[in-house]
Amino acid sequence: VITMLEGRESISAFRNPQSQFSQAAKQGSNLIHRERATRHRARRNNTDSSLQSTTLGNVLGVQANPIAEKHEPPDTNSQEPTREMIQLQRESLPAYKVREELVSLVRFNQVSIVIGETGSGKTTQLAQFLHGDGISSIAITQPRRIAAMSVARRVAQEMDVALGAEVGYSIRFEDVTSSKTQIKFMTDGILLRETLLDPYLSHYDCIIIDEAHERSLNTDVLMGILKDLLTKRKDIKLIITSATINAAKFSKFFGNAPQFTIPGKTFPVDVVYAKTPVDDYVEAAVLEATRIHLGTAIESGDVLIFMTGQEDIEVTENGIKEKLLQVYSKRDAQISTFEDIKDLEVYPIYSALPPNLQNRIFHKLDPSKRKIVIATNIAETSLTIDSIRYVIDSGYSKLKVFNAKIGLDTLAVTPISCANANQRSGRAGRTGPGTAYRLYTEETYDDDMYPHTIPEIQRTNLSNTILLLKSLGVTDILQFPFIDKPPTETLLASMYELWFINALDNFGALTPLGREMSKLPLPPSLSKVLIVASQYDCSEEILTIVSMLSVPSVFHRPKEYEKESDLARAKFFVPESDHLTLLNVFSQWRQNRYSAQWCQRHFLVHRSLARAKDIREQLARIMTRNKIPISSSGSDWTIIRKCICSGFAHQAAKSSGLGKYVSLKTGLRVDVHPTSALFGLGDPPPYIIYHELLMTTKEYMICNTAVDPFWLMEYGGLLYNIKRIGSSTADSVMFPGSETGTARTAKDPLDEQIKLCETHR
Ligand code: CDP
Ligand code: MG
Repeated sequence: VITMLEGRESISAFRNPQSQFSQAAKQGSNLIHRERATRHRARRNNTDSSLQSTTLGNVLGVQANPIAEKHEPPDTNSQEPTREMIQLQRESLPAYKVREELVSLVRFNQVSIVIGETGSGKTTQLAQFLHGDGISSIAITQPRRIAAMSVARRVAQEMDVALGAEVGYSIRFEDVTSSKTQIKFMTDGILLRETLLDPYLSHYDCIIIDEAHERSLNTDVLMGILKDLLTKRKDIKLIITSATINAAKFSKFFGNAPQFTIPGKTFPVDVVYAKTPVDDYVEAAVLEATRIHLGTAIESGDVLIFMTGQEDIEVTENGIKEKLLQVYSKRDAQISTFEDIKDLEVYPIYSALPPNLQNRIFHKLDPSKRKIVIATNIAETSLTIDSIRYVIDSGYSKLKVFNAKIGLDTLAVTPISCANANQRSGRAGRTGPGTAYRLYTEETYDDDMYPHTIPEIQRTNLSNTILLLKSLGVTDILQFPFIDKPPTETLLASMYELWFINALDNFGALTPLGREMSKLPLPPSLSKVLIVASQYDCSEEILTIVSMLSVPSVFHRPKEYEKESDLARAKFFVPESDHLTLLNVFSQWRQNRYSAQWCQRHFLVHRSLARAKDIREQLARIMTRNKIPISSSGSDWTIIRKCICSGFAHQAAKSSGLGKYVSLKTGLRVDVHPTSALFGLGDPPPYIIYHELLMTTKEYMICNTAVDPFWLMEYGGLLYNIKRIGSSTADSVMFPGSETGTARTAKDPLDEQIKLCETHR
């Protein structure tokens, strides 16, 4: 079985003219900068099982935290603020001082733009003020789940009500609201879905699009939709809030809507650059943090470190703890573990962290104690920690980047922009003058970094968005009022993908299948798999798999038990499929009556499984509501793999021998990720599909399933075709479709060897 490899091109040379990478490639040095970072990360990634979940999670909006499963220490070091403390803190906020102005601004304008430094009280105060002024149903969107949850909790606390009563939140698969709820925090994605069900958003009197400067894809699309809605609902109020960057653009977009800037003082921040380029930003951050802690008075302030993601954060946390323990234990023989150190707390914060551990970053510590918070760019603008006086900036963040040319969405560590860098530094000057240590040189900042981050809409796959807009009746996507237009190339590539999976017809209109798909709160490919499964009588099983793909990794891999946990994981492996492996884990957990102890014994993350069960129930309800049948295939797992293939035929790879694979679509080399059940198989399946591609130094396929090439034909016939070739290369061909895994000889259906090649590229 041979594949045509024409049209080979390099992945790192991103062709998308809008992409940060391609610009970086042009500039040269930035790319080297990035590759260096990914190399360091790759080194860690190869031994890091949490990786799979993190990247999958990112795609699906959730992330993993296998480590936290085991030890969830009760938070004894910090105290919940009292009512008086909360009131005092509220009154000290810059927004509080302009309460009247803010209220009348909204009273007299349909659209207002509210600008303020981060931490001035936009998110926590604005809705409360408007609520106090008699507006009864307010929606506030956040680009990040964690911000929606955390801020809702805070506002409920400030208003002294139970979370989920007057104040609640709603994120995908988690709705903490009730009929009483008047202030509802939600992700921008949730409000978008609500427009599908109720295009007039008649439930709300006021909508606050918060953190608009972040320019998340969903926020951008929402703004376009709301612009239209404003003309139909004269009574609705719209407020766009933004940090000081980008604000004028929003005003212009909404017909020169009035801008109001919350006056606020910030303190000067000294910026210290690295003198020479930094090789490993994690190592450098550990050194800088320990240096600050040991070299300055505790009272001089807390430390905030910006890292790229969960893995980096965990390595940094452990590094700091180890380093300081060495120093402390030399000074004092009594000190043998980090917990013995009494003047320091180290808190990680990222979206997968369990909620009970997220909130402690805000709590006040005893004055004799310092905290070091290690965060993703979530702490850049969406969360404000007051006591920070030192910032350590790695210079990187994790971004999803779509290459329209080859139709690949990849997650990569990329250099931040100057605007990000300045936001990060600013976090040190909230309560007094501070210092920001940048782990990159001044030349990098001046010459290599972009002034602003490229908006998400210009760098990610838009198939989800297009499907949604089409379902909302937007026929001509190019005419949609985008605040910044997405690249036409990306639009076309995403439309192509939707057409390919049969969600759009030849004229770009929604097909009946596409309409069904848009009803499910899932990425289009997964929606398709679920709908196809309902036709093949295996939606019970696919429902489980889809739910398992929507949660953080279920596999727990603690540092001290790497071998044991790897063995435990391997026991669940279904050799031809990671998807079936997930199904297997869930089924066994169900057989063991959803036991938490059972999970612990088998190195599984009970919280993730419980969440998958919950998501499964919600999806089942949505399916029933939409009359999508749910039934089981019993023990036939082949049909399940075929259904998975139906949504992922465009993400197929072919074995090129010795466990190596090449992508069928691009001809580029792709590798099975070490966490996969298909990794290192003696007899690697000739064709597989992958759920996601991760780019480090290599292209890794994450979550894979062996497929029959005939299925690729059936579902990807537009992309591939089969050619018979002469019997001169008459080896027998392995078809993964055979239950026993035995070789099917060339006598089978297409009798000769087949040649699978691309017809459309
Ligand atoms: O939205 P903006 O950046 O303007 O500020 P905010 O998020 O409303 O934060 C205002 C204040 O509330 C800050 O001082 C935060 O530290 C505090 N806050 C908190 O203590 N706990 C939270 N969960 C959220 C905010
Ligand atoms: Mg805010």
